Amino acid sequence: MSNSGSACNGQPSSAPSLSSVPTHGQPLWLLAELTYKCPLQCPYCANPVDFASKTGELTTAEWIDVFTQARELGAAQLGFSGGEPLVRQDLTELIREARQLGYYSNLITSGVGLNERKIADFREAGLDHIQVSFQAADPEVNNLLAGSKKAFAQKMAMAKEVKAQGYPMVLNFVTHRHNIDQIDRIIELCVELQADYVELATCQYYGWAYENRNDLLPTHAQLERAERITNEYRDRLAAAGNPIKIIFVTPDYYEERPKGCMNGWGQVFLTVTPDGTALPCHSARMLPIEFPNVREQSIEAIWNQSNGFNHYRGYEWMKEPCASCDEKEKDFGGCRCQAFMMTGDANNADPVCSKSPHHELIVKAREEAELPSHKEPIFRNERNSKVFCKG
Ligand code: FES
Repeated sequence: MSNSGSACNGQPSSAPSLSSVPTHGQPLWLLAELTYKCPLQCPYCANPVDFASKTGELTTAEWIDVFTQARELGAAQLGFSGGEPLVRQDLTELIREARQLGYYSNLITSGVGLNERKIADFREAGLDHIQVSFQAADPEVNNLLAGSKKAFAQKMAMAKEVKAQGYPMVLNFVTHRHNIDQIDRIIELCVELQADYVELATCQYYGWAYENRNDLLPTHAQLERAERITNEYRDRLAAAGNPIKIIFVTPDYYEERPKGCMNGWGQVFLTVTPDGTALPCHSARMLPIEFPNVREQSIEAIWNQSNGFNHYRGYEWMKEPCASCDEKEKDFGGCRCQAFMMTGDANNADPVCSKSPHHELIVKAREEAELPSHKEPIFRNERNSKVFCKG
């Protein structure tokens, strides 16, 4: 079976010689994308736009084998993600195995498909942590973005139930130009739900979000206002003795230096996709690089020897301005996926960096965000995904 990382586009990749590959750490964080199936259709989903072409999900036994091998290699945290991981009927069994192997496990879910019984089963099987994501604080906007009339009510009920069953309440709101002006309402909802930890994550532009960027990127003024209001709430809530932790994540489109994506390529993170493709980050399968598959190679060989994981380790692959930059050990040249999406060459500096010769692409995107959005969003669903797979 082919395990190419680029189904719909691509240019040939060139690998560094193995002698030039520097040492690296252990895959401490394993992200198990159990399925691309999802009952919702968020236009900012980071899943690959051509997910409909990726068939043949790993079986229960294959996932357990992946967990076992990764644990032997040093993995300590295991995230169950998707798509919607609740779609997998074997989720409780996978959680139980993760616990027995000694992982700290985390379920990343929309809450749609969850019920009291399942939460109790997951708890009994040893799940450590559940994160419920919301689309908005307003039922109408939430349901419109999710593509389901019942999503908001279900999420509210499940967030409460997660807390009632003794889990910390961890909520995630993806913010963008359509909901960021309601940031006060979002925070109030989190307080009402007695959340312990809230991530207000401004949309990052990968997968479907990149296709919908014109419709999602907030203006600079929107972003500044949202951050100011968040800081005011933080101060007020802390003064009132509320221990809620609110994290505000800005999109790197408004930065002048790139993020050190994934803590460095192939340093800490290992993602395994539903069909077993192993990736150094959740978006990498779009790159014109051959990525290994857990059905064909051991996790040890994938992590230590595969071209896919060694490709951007170290600094030898870098072009200018990264190669001679005194910040390269901090940001590793930024995000390879973003460099590829925006410039067509993943070896380029991340255009977020003001030193990049392609930085004007980011400036242009910011300027476009100041204009009214003029495109209908493309919802993430099977039908739309098939369009991206043609040719
Ligand atoms: Fe792939 Fe940043 S998301 S390297």
